[in-house]
Amino acid sequence: MMDVQTQKIEALLAEMTLEEKIGQLQQCGPSLVGAFEVSFEELLDMMFDGRISQAEFGRLMSTAEQDFHEEDLRVGKIGSYNGVGDALTANRLQKIAVEETRLGIPLLFGYDVIHGFRTVTPIPLAESCAWDPALWQRTARMSAQEATAAGVHMTFAPMVDVAKDARWGRVSEGAGEDTLLNGDYGAAKVRGFQGDDLAQTDALVACLKHFAAYGAGEAGKDYNRVDLSLQRLWEEYLPAYKACIDAGAQAVMPAFNDLNGVPCTVNDWLLRAVLRDEWGFEGITVSDANAIAECVNHGVAADRQAAAKQALQAGVDIDMTSNAYSENLQGLIEAGEVAEALLDEAVQRILKLKFELGLFDQPYRTDAEKEKATLVKPEYRALAREAAAKSMVLLKNEAVLPLQPQQKIAVIGGLADDAGQMTGAWAIGAHGDECVSLVQAMDATGIDYVYHPGIVDGSVASDAVNQAVDAADMVILAIGEQKEESGEAASKADISLPAIQLELAEMLVRTGKPVVAVLFNGRPLAIPTLAEQVPAILEAWHPGLEAGNAILDLLYGRVNPSAKLTTTFPHTTGQCPLYYDHIATGRPGGKSKFTSKYLDTPLEPVYPFGFGLSYTTFAYSDLRAEKRADAVRLTVTLKNSGNRAGEEIVQCYVQDKVAKRARPVKRLAAYRKVLLQPGESIEVEFEVPFEKLGYYDQRMDFVLESGEFAFFVGGNSRDNLAETVDLMF
Ligand code: BGC
Repeated sequence: MMDVQTQKIEALLAEMTLEEKIGQLQQCGPSLVGAFEVSFEELLDMMFDGRISQAEFGRLMSTAEQDFHEEDLRVGKIGSYNGVGDALTANRLQKIAVEETRLGIPLLFGYDVIHGFRTVTPIPLAESCAWDPALWQRTARMSAQEATAAGVHMTFAPMVDVAKDARWGRVSEGAGEDTLLNGDYGAAKVRGFQGDDLAQTDALVACLKHFAAYGAGEAGKDYNRVDLSLQRLWEEYLPAYKACIDAGAQAVMPAFNDLNGVPCTVNDWLLRAVLRDEWGFEGITVSDANAIAECVNHGVAADRQAAAKQALQAGVDIDMTSNAYSENLQGLIEAGEVAEALLDEAVQRILKLKFELGLFDQPYRTDAEKEKATLVKPEYRALAREAAAKSMVLLKNEAVLPLQPQQKIAVIGGLADDAGQMTGAWAIGAHGDECVSLVQAMDATGIDYVYHPGIVDGSVASDAVNQAVDAADMVILAIGEQKEESGEAASKADISLPAIQLELAEMLVRTGKPVVAVLFNGRPLAIPTLAEQVPAILEAWHPGLEAGNAILDLLYGRVNPSAKLTTTFPHTTGQCPLYYDHIATGRPGGKSKFTSKYLDTPLEPVYPFGFGLSYTTFAYSDLRAEKRADAVRLTVTLKNSGNRAGEEIVQCYVQDKVAKRARPVKRLAAYRKVLLQPGESIEVEFEVPFEKLGYYDQRMDFVLESGEFAFFVGGNSRDNLAETVDLMF
């Protein structure tokens, strides 16, 4: 017996023409039209290669308007939109779909809500440093409430691409280099976005991305090839996507990259055998932007028609903006080259999601009034501030922090006074002027301070800086990256700070005043000299709307720092990819020459994975390991040995000491964040289930191999207590 919803879908499908079916697969990205004759993309290229000036580009843009292709919408040729982020436009287009198309099928609106919609929270890489699934879920819920109030139904998030190469610009969009953390982060985001019931008007469908292993692009270059052993794929990359599917994600975006030669967009093994058959995924797949057509560039399809055929056969339901489906599927089906049943399956899945969202009963889930009342509520700002403070990592502190309110401060560096930069990459719904810069936050406190940008017209403004610093007790130096330096299409061949910023830092150090460096960036940076020279470093990342306030919460000790890095900070770019869970080599890096290392860099990173300081200190002792029926139980004594209450992120790593395949030197198995009062001592417990100790062997069988396992517990991936357990499976 078919349930009522399936009956409705079947009835609708029976009524649909081929064109209308294909229309459901078509996702339209509004194009920009204005006083320019070329496409927007061409116009951008013209600005980048200097054919037109930035000013001319700006002038042309001011004439631009969005074209929503309403004529196509009216005849049922559009099933969803990407990038409509306001209730008025969404409802206007929805009205056309519902009232003017033959079958009245409602539209689905997708949008990149990556780290907040209007209330921008820290970039994902930053937020991951909180190691706090409850927080990740709360901020996602907030984003969902805002985005749905603005007419959005689906976000193209979370991104759970494990990213081990700091050169890749998109490290900013995920939870760092570790598999477990990416999975926990993604699952929490899915729960937060979608809520308990998709039919609620504030449920936002999660489209996890980019399936799969986009973060493993060769040499950290965006859109580059991904060549991975299947063992590595299954052990290090796929679990994070799987965690999101298990959490109920309703949509999946195949990645731009090829995986071992087959672009993910046409990879039927990935999209059918793994995703649907093995993992039981029943939701929709949405191609990445223009990705179907780009299979021609990959050289796996002779033309767009062949690409459309392959993508549909591989199981891509929605074509995001390449028009390859809308231009070719009808011909392919009429010529008998593609089975109509394949198209029907895709349409069924899309209609099912629209039913589950309640769009057939309630196509307008919001209006302009609700939107206005929802965006940037005071409690949202408060959560953005909390999230930012929990995401910033104190990397160094030689008794300089917290600052005292009576100290006179020189704030140096343009990023301190640039609210718009605080959003970071991929904050397309943001209003930069709603962000609080560091200088604005200082103004609000009444603290005695002076500000100078430090670098003017490309040079260090020595006299002015010296003058500012002369009268001050302390210096806060704001340096790092612009938001455009991370995110998509923002890979870098050099991840060190620009020479001019280092020159400024060195000059400030020479003044003899204590310098607190506050770093704004979207990726790990190579900062060996800064780490040596200045007495304090706060890694603020791109912190979002409440940037300045959250920074001051930490610098003045109103909040005790608790975040820990989810990504390794190398000495130099040449070490990339540098990550903690590397495989044991035959010649582990060491003092002697013939070992695995570089001649010209130290062995250890500047800051290891899991590292972060607090204003208090924690002492670990008495690690015990105990075999249980199907898990290992670890217990450690943790003491707050300082004189402030503080949260510690306790980390548990494991190493399979002898196995038939070389195993990682250690890999995160569990973690917990605990709050301790000064002097307080507690027992922290972990249960590591046996199934986490297995691996894929040469034949791709998942095996649990008996033998010795080492467990490491501590406050980062380097400084640990260790216990070894003999396990028989
Ligand atoms: C990105 C995706 C994003 C999509 C839609 C693409 O360029 O790779 O992550 O969701 O654009 O805007």
